[in-house]
Amino acid sequence: MVAVWCVDQGRFTSSNKNTMNAYIIENFGSIDGITLTERPVPTPGPNQVLIKVKAVSIARRDIYILNQVYPLPPKQGIIPLSDGVGEVISTGAQVTRFKTGDRVAGNYFANWRDGQIDMDIIDQLGCTLDGMLAEYVILNEDWLVRIPANLSWQEAATLPCAALTAWSALTGPKPVLAGDTVLTIGSGGVAVFAIQFAKMMGARIIALTSKDSKFEALHNLGADEVINYTTHADWHQQVKELTGGSGVSRVIETGGIDTFEQSVKSAGFGAEITLVSSAGVLNNSTVLLKSVLAPLFVKMISIRPIFVGSRLSFEAMNRAIEVFVIKPVIDKIYTFKQVKEAFHYVAAGEQLGKVIIVLNE
Ligand SMILES: NC(=O)c1ccc[n+]([C@@H]2O[C@H](COP(=O)([O-])OP(=O)(O)OC[C@H]3O[C@@H](n4cnc5c(N)ncnc54)[C@H](OP(=O)(O)O)[C@@H]3O)[C@@H](O)[C@H]2O)c1
Repeated sequence: MVAVWCVDQGRFTSSNKNTMNAYIIENFGSIDGITLTERPVPTPGPNQVLIKVKAVSIARRDIYILNQVYPLPPKQGIIPLSDGVGEVISTGAQVTRFKTGDRVAGNYFANWRDGQIDMDIIDQLGCTLDGMLAEYVILNEDWLVRIPANLSWQEAATLPCAALTAWSALTGPKPVLAGDTVLTIGSGGVAVFAIQFAKMMGARIIALTSKDSKFEALHNLGADEVINYTTHADWHQQVKELTGGSGVSRVIETGGIDTFEQSVKSAGFGAEITLVSSAGVLNNSTVLLKSVLAPLFVKMISIRPIFVGSRLSFEAMNRAIEVFVIKPVIDKIYTFKQVKEAFHYVAAGEQLGKVIIVLNE
């Protein structure tokens, strides 16, 4: 029996469970290496919060971590996933920011509150720190944000990685302004949020996808133009035509080495290429330096690498989501028993938006 003192309600509540289920990565390299375990429900320390997890989502980085191709080496036996939301069940004696019943999410870079990321605050949930794929998690109160009031548990579980990355890509030192033209690549978590936020900011959006079947959905989300990057292998030419020859002012570069060369060719004078990915998942092409360096220089293009975002950026994004009533796009919802199926689906890269796993419903 877990007895929990509810500070805000002035009473004890109880749960019949003193153990919980959590998935861990027992063996890296394969989805079969993800194992279900049973553990005691953790007890919060003085600055910690016990959270009953309601929904989680899988990001492409979780596949990279599993396959050990992620830049930050993960901890052995880690509980995976950075993205998850839940209800505060109890709080440590010194916790002041949250109370029982609050709806919260953890920040991807747990200790990154504001300003620039640095090596001493590089720890990530679901990588070097235990993540969200458990029935209960303990997080430090400083690692948490309140989730937007207008979102369901499932919708809010999409936010910590993909949404915050898109938000950071469009804001930052040179924010996108109304009337700018933004190019997005693919229809994964980051690109779809980038379309929604760029529309909110008043930008014109050109979206790339590999599938004609996704055109209508991308238009409905706010894309003004959609190009199929497989049937139009030289898609930068379409981008130039659609911009009257001048090119776009912002590229949200989620394709990496597969798309970078054409991103440079699609960018206008003084544009920013916001570098979200250095991977290559689309067609395995490689970039010839000589074909990018000259246009980068001549067009005075800036390249800004970004890495998700800080807690204060997360909170700013959540305010915007509430004011503009942004609804995250969920492709598929799995149960806690279907974790491996969900990982296989994300690994295949077919989704439009985010893939969710629900818990404790
Ligand atoms: N720097 C950062 O902070 C940061 C944060 C998040 C993500 N990222 C990186 O940004 C990239 C996109 O992330 P995401 O979470 O948006 O990805 P995602 O949800 O997995 O979506 C990627 C999209 O790329 C296209 N795609 C085509 N073939 C694919 C394949 N074999 N595997 C994967 N995708 C394929 C698909 O779009 P279409 O069907 O429309 O072609 C797919 O929906 C990844 O490399 C990820 O690691 C970086």
